[in-house]
This record gives sequence, structure tokens and C-alpha cells, in this order.
Amino acid sequence: MVSEKMQDALNKQLNAELYSAYLYLAMSAYFEDSNLPGFANWMKIQAQEELSHGMKFYDYLIRRGKRVILDEIEKPASTWESPLAVFEQVLSHEQKVTGLINQLVDLAQDEKDHATNNFLQWFVAEQVEEEETAGGLLQKVRLASTSPSSLLMLDNELSQRVYHPPAE
Ligand code: FEO
Repeated sequence: MVSEKMQDALNKQLNAELYSAYLYLAMSAYFEDSNLPGFANWMKIQAQEELSHGMKFYDYLIRRGKRVILDEIEKPASTWESPLAVFEQVLSHEQKVTGLINQLVDLAQDEKDHATNNFLQWFVAEQVEEEETAGGLLQKVRLASTSPSSLLMLDNELSQRVYHPPAE
């Protein structure tokens, strides 16, 4: 059984995932405006992934017979100082999300809610990947930030990303 407290915490994470989608979509729009369509493509797909993360929480709550309560989504920034500033925020944002997932796992374990703990393990693994990807891209952007031609090559690389719905 999922407790009311766990239900509220899962609804909060659903909101956090939707905010992540909103944040990455705002970053995508910023890159469109900066004439970096490959970066924009990467961020738009990142936003789609976050939406799918949110839907995992949505579907889990429904399957467990709990209530989904949608809250307001915080307004993201609309502009950044540079592509480097964007990727610094991506990494720190993903580190923050990892902390939120860890807190949820702590709560599930405190409540001996093994099913929710099991559900959350997908996100534990996902966050390792998210931080690794964000950290790797930050390094690439940092190296390219002083060379417009390198930045355009990276833009071309990021234009190749395609959306794959996450596995169950
Ligand atoms: Fe939903 Fe980027 O973690």
C-alpha cells in the first residue's frame, strides 16, 4: 500500500519532472534564438524525456489506486549568458534531481514500501546516466566555448540525437 505521505511525495516529483521538461524546453527555445539548431534539438529531446519521466510517476500513482494532483509548474528562465552557462545549469539541475530521487528512496525505505522503492530504482539508474551525460556535454561545451568552429561542430553532433521512449 502506498501511504498518503508517499502519494504526496510522488506527486511532488511528478511536478519536478514536468518542471525539468519546461526548463529544457526553455533552453531549447534559447538555442533556437541563438542559431544553434543542434543544441536546440538536443534540449527538445531532453524535454520529451523529462515529460516521459513525469508520466512514469503519473502512471505509477494511478496503478496504485492513488490520486494524481497536478500543481503549478514554476516558470523557467528564458535566457542565459552563454551555451556554457546553460550546460552548467543542466548539470547542477540533474544533481539536484538526483537528490530528490534519493530522498524519495529514503522515504520508501522508511515506510517499508518495497514496491515504490522498486519503482524508484529505475530513476536511481537513470540519474547516473543523466549526470554522466550532462557532465560530458559540459566538458565539450567548455572546450568549444572559445572556438566558434568547434561550437558549430558540436551543434552538428547534437543535431543527430533522436528521441527513444524510455524502457519500462
Ligand atoms: Fe528526470 Fe533529467 O531527470
